[in-house]
Amino acid sequence: MAGRYDVIVLGAGAAGMMCAIGAGQRGRSVAVLDHAAAPGEKIRISGGGRCNFTNIHAGPRNFLSANPHFAKSALARFTPKDFLAMVGGHGIAWHEKTLGQLFCDNSAKDIIRMLTDEMRSAGVDLRLRTEIGAIDPVAGGGYRIATSGGVVEATSLVIATGGKSIPKMGATGFAYRVAEQFGLPLVETRPGLVPLTLDPQLLQRLAPLAGIAAPAEIRHGKTAFREALLFTHRGLSGPAILQISSYWREGDEITVAIEPDIDIFITLKTARQANGRQSAQTALAEILPKRLAQHFAEGESMSGNMADQPDRRLQQLAAAVQAWPIKPSGSEGYRTAEVTLGGVDTACLDSKTMQVKTIPGLFFIGECVDVTGWLGGYNFQWAWASGYVAGEAA
Ligand code: FDA
Repeated sequence: MAGRYDVIVLGAGAAGMMCAIGAGQRGRSVAVLDHAAAPGEKIRISGGGRCNFTNIHAGPRNFLSANPHFAKSALARFTPKDFLAMVGGHGIAWHEKTLGQLFCDNSAKDIIRMLTDEMRSAGVDLRLRTEIGAIDPVAGGGYRIATSGGVVEATSLVIATGGKSIPKMGATGFAYRVAEQFGLPLVETRPGLVPLTLDPQLLQRLAPLAGIAAPAEIRHGKTAFREALLFTHRGLSGPAILQISSYWREGDEITVAIEPDIDIFITLKTARQANGRQSAQTALAEILPKRLAQHFAEGESMSGNMADQPDRRLQQLAAAVQAWPIKPSGSEGYRTAEVTLGGVDTACLDSKTMQVKTIPGLFFIGECVDVTGWLGGYNFQWAWASGYVAGEAA
């Protein structure tokens, strides 16, 4: 046999490495197995290479799950401050960018180095380029795992192989197959934090706007996010769209308000008073990028001078800018999605340990579980927190 351990973690991503560190520090013998050539590949590319490693405001309300209460326990036991203490201990410089989002000053590689150093100190055996085969429960307790490097056995098995997002980077949906093998329920998976696409007709109409970014509030039902909106050649993107995409379902409409902090009607009225001879498009271009102003002014057929526009017309123009209903045709899918929504149903997991309630020694952590964070460091915080609590129990 290639090895016998107390704990085997499948997946050397954020959650798996965190779990391995905790278990190793408790004196457990731990191996982490991954088919990739390097650990933490998603950490490396995250946050534009600087890793938005947590969010100081992270709390249960920033996560989507069929059970919104499930994440509370782990998030309370391992907080952003706890992760910051680890980061500080390794002398990694960081900064807050916006909305509580913390990034490395230098490189996401600092975070990977910190985790691999901690694993080494905790005596964790990291086995890369290892393909995982059959998983079999062992009579009397524990698990036997066939791998390309031989058979390994452990008392506890932690599944930390992430979701389906970005298959090019090695995402496989492996965790869901393990859950199925053990008869565990799954919440339907779908891409989250993903750009939305538009039907060809609308895309053609919006083509001149490609490349424009503007502050916006994007609403879906009762949920709204205020961040940047970006028009692209494929549809809509930018943080505000990525955020709402996790709530959006096929066939739903979203409502776009551009420059939500500005009262456009009042601003246009003031502009009319100040200079009645300018066009509505020119007045609007004082607030919006030129091409956007042109798009809305033409869309509302605003011909003539501002002096010719009654309040009703200015209100119509303001509504076009700030109550713009758009029906996306789809999303860019797992190819570009930052996360996978849904996954292993939390109903079968103990929220304090991430262990399967009915199967001793089997744990699921990180993105493969039906807990998905907003954009802004929340998903890593869930990976750290769920990994930490499992590491304390496995
Ligand atoms: P993760 O996917 O990190 O790790 C899973 C590991 O399992 C991988 O190492 C993989 O190789 C391995 N694996 C998978 N299948 C396997 C198999 N069959 N056999 C063996 N090994 C297998 N979040 C955030 O909070 N801040 C940010 O800045 C970003 N930025 C960001 C950018 C981009 C481009 C993406 C795609 C995602 C983000 N995210 C993010 C999300 C974040 O990366 C994600 O939520 C975490 O990496 C999830 O951690 P896990 O450890 O659960 O899975």
